[in-house]
Amino acid sequence: MSEQEKIYPVTAEFAANAWINNEKYQELYAQSVENPEAFWAEQGKRITWFKEYTKVKNTSFDPHNVSIKWYEDGELNAAYNCLDRHLETRGDQTAIIWEGDNPESSKNITYRELYEDVCQFANGLKKLGVHKGDVVTIYMPMIPEAAVAMLACARIGAVHSVVFGGFSPDAIAGRIINSDSKIVITSDEGRRGGKQVPLKENVDEALTNPHVKTVEKVVVVKCTGGDIHWHDHRDLWWHDVVAGCAKECPAEPMNAEDPLFILYTSGSTGAPKGLKHTTGGYMVYASLTHQYIFDYKEGDVYWCTADVGWITGHSYILYGPLANGATTLMFEGVPSYPTHGRMGDICDKHQVNILYTAPTAVRSLMAQGDDVMSSSTRQSLRLLGSVGEPINPEAWEWYHRVIGNGECPIVDTWWQTETGGIMIAPLPGATDLKPGSATRPFFGVQPALFDSEGKELQGATDGNLVLQDSWPSQARSIWGDHERFVQTYFSTYKGVYFTGDGCRRDEDGYYWITGRVDDVINVSGHRMGTAEIESALVAHKAVAEAAVVGYPHDIKGQGIYIYVTLAEGLEASDELRIELVKWVRKEIGPIATPDVIQWAPGLPKTRSGKIMRRILRKIAANECDGLGDTSTLADPGVVDDLIEHRANR
Ligand code: WTA
Repeated sequence: MSEQEKIYPVTAEFAANAWINNEKYQELYAQSVENPEAFWAEQGKRITWFKEYTKVKNTSFDPHNVSIKWYEDGELNAAYNCLDRHLETRGDQTAIIWEGDNPESSKNITYRELYEDVCQFANGLKKLGVHKGDVVTIYMPMIPEAAVAMLACARIGAVHSVVFGGFSPDAIAGRIINSDSKIVITSDEGRRGGKQVPLKENVDEALTNPHVKTVEKVVVVKCTGGDIHWHDHRDLWWHDVVAGCAKECPAEPMNAEDPLFILYTSGSTGAPKGLKHTTGGYMVYASLTHQYIFDYKEGDVYWCTADVGWITGHSYILYGPLANGATTLMFEGVPSYPTHGRMGDICDKHQVNILYTAPTAVRSLMAQGDDVMSSSTRQSLRLLGSVGEPINPEAWEWYHRVIGNGECPIVDTWWQTETGGIMIAPLPGATDLKPGSATRPFFGVQPALFDSEGKELQGATDGNLVLQDSWPSQARSIWGDHERFVQTYFSTYKGVYFTGDGCRRDEDGYYWITGRVDDVINVSGHRMGTAEIESALVAHKAVAEAAVVGYPHDIKGQGIYIYVTLAEGLEASDELRIELVKWVRKEIGPIATPDVIQWAPGLPKTRSGKIMRRILRKIAANECDGLGDTSTLADPGVVDDLIEHRANR
């Protein structure tokens, strides 16, 4: 039997104790797609509303009028749902377990303490003149203040835009400019793997960009105490901002469709897009999926290893778990520091029950051998989760056998920044598992597979994955560019949302995501546009032309493979290669560090001048036999040269 055909049935014990067993899944799923209004009207009750909704769903995927509204006349506050409503029942329960980069440092923050910290900082933001609807950029390490800052924005109705700490000054500047942020919140430095990350310095540099015109203040958390430059007219210490502020602050009533946050992500073309997420539907969906997919039970310790700079951190470190009154673990460091056993050590130290991580982390531990986990028992674990990229069956099996001691179901969760919450995933008490498959759709999610001509495919088949109807946590628009939203997601296939992913559906109706079908690559679970990296490269004076593709990488899933045509008269050299690697890191950030640069005297182009990426992808993957039709190339000779000098064999 091949690995892919292996099935891990739901255990009787899990089915008996889980929120949802298979019968219940079938029943609720049918309701959710046959009568979404009634289903979501009921589910909406899990959230505390200041004003009850009377309307539930008002959505259109018609390309002439894309409009998505859920619970549109309801009013609520996201921070209230994460904090205030728990005070009476679990004020003294730990809301956040913070585990430092340094294994000696950790602390527990109760719901009451978190509530007070958030109120105090919310008052501080008000003092700085932040109002409902203003955008606040957050560029922070994984410290509790990051969560406090996000929730404080939500409390006063400001819109947060979190920028991952691995992005460069240019990337920060672009996001500030696009969103017209008034305030930036950062820290002096971050800590990762025993090293310092110069966050404040990056913000300083971003703000030297002449197009940044809206930023009034920079609030700085003292984290490492490292040396930083200070600009008196602009910079404020976090501790000075909160000094003297009250620990009570009313939660602003927000309309369900008021924006909660913007989060930038990469697409096939152009600059990163700021996806706009709103309040009501997002909170309902994040909390519902967190409870059912992770089978979260009162008292569980839950750990999602993502960074708050990504959608996974927003929905499944912060909003989903806190809305459910969970204890959520926030880890400042990296899985390999001080040893590769760290993740297991943290599970033991804090008695983690549910662990949600990325395939790339699993593969990098697997590469160390089975002994890598020998410093811990991980006996507390009862459920594992995977997110961000396809998990290969071998890594799935290892995750199950070694990290989970062969005892924990794995929920492989497929979703996107655009979807706000998990779309396709097993429910651990309901769904038999197949390693490598995200299995079945969550309630209300209607996947379908289309061919490239726009025809819907039936039965067991491969195709392009679309979603046929809206769900509550769907992104509503691209910040400042609704037309681009329509173009990107609703114009490829009429009347449905196009995900950009390829997918296979098997005989049991299980979905297997095969990866992106557009020019987006997924490197260690980080989503990147090849066009973004190309435009960074051609901004370097030595580069005449560049083409970037992903190629299969054992640990990262995909690596970054770059073909560079040098400017007239320049010689290729190792120095230049190193310089270009540095250049991309500086332009975009360390997450975009190129893996391979191949010098390309010419690139394969059609007679109309279009680069044939299909060929470049094959060469990068070292699959030179199956190049397909090259007869339409302007100069077929360039391909032979590229094959001869390919760097990955
Ligand atoms: C990929 C991350 C396979 C997919 C939540 C998607 C996955 C992109 C999975 C979104 C999974 C995410 N299996 N592929 N379980 N989860 N992806 O926006 O290509 O950072 O389109 O959201 O990651 O990445 P994003």
